Amino acid sequence: MNTEKEQILNKIDKNNLPSHVAIIMDGNGRWAKKQNKIRTFGHKEGAENVVEIVRASSNLGIKELSLYAFSTENWKRPAKEVDTIMSLVVKFIDKYIDELNRENVYLQMLGRRDEVPDFVLDKVDYALDLTKNNNGMILNLCLNYGSRQEILDACKSLVKEYQNYSIEDIERINFNDFEKYLYSKNYTDVDLLIRPSGELRLSNFLMYQSSYAELYFSDILWPDFKKENLYEAILDFQNRNRRFGGV
Ligand code: IPE
Ligand code: IPE
Ligand code: MG
Repeated sequence: MNTEKEQILNKIDKNNLPSHVAIIMDGNGRWAKKQNKIRTFGHKEGAENVVEIVRASSNLGIKELSLYAFSTENWKRPAKEVDTIMSLVVKFIDKYIDELNRENVYLQMLGRRDEVPDFVLDKVDYALDLTKNNNGMILNLCLNYGSRQEILDACKSLVKEYQNYSIEDIERINFNDFEKYLYSKNYTDVDLLIRPSGELRLSNFLMYQSSYAELYFSDILWPDFKKENLYEAILDFQNRNRRFGGV
């Protein structure tokens, strides 16, 4: 098995990596159900899987990795499940942030802070502060994240900033200017968007950033999505013909 993994890795062209990879970490609930366990068991297993994918991405030389951990719509779930997911974010940081820091990973949180409980924000802020001077892989923790909310929030910030500007100045606003108001400090387009678990939708994830992303869907449920599956997705990406509207 190990040699098989290495073979996939060896096929990857290191000069043609997707610069920004985004993953919708979906399928924890179904994974648990398959083992006759409760959904929260799947979330625990899913959280444990995160570090393998982060390590593999960083080792490969991926510049930016965005992970969808909790959407603005996930508040609809039972309170107990939401609490479990929030606690898992804290546990993940406790367990792995020192390693990620040593790996030079720079952490960002993308999402609305408002509704996120203080005990989670405190831990996230600690991790953001710890890694703030790192210049390795950018890891975006997408927590209470929604694309529509992000675009609306950007518009609100932009309007506030431009309220005393002339109509001519406002007319001159371009994409570059607009992108500064999105959640990320250093906006980049998503190159490869991966969704495990068999669902074929974006579920409000990085829709602006993914305008020209290559989409990769897999039936594997997130807790089973291992580094070799990531390598396969990258190989698939490397065989795509990206035209960006050209010929
Ligand atoms: C993804 O797994 C985790 C979060 C949304 C937080 P799900 O919990 O959505 O798993 P399924 O889709 O029900 O299997
Ligand atoms: C998307 O998965 C959100 C995360 C993985 C964090 P969902 O399970 O919430 O998406 P839908 O409801 O199936 O679209
Ligand atoms: Mg789901």
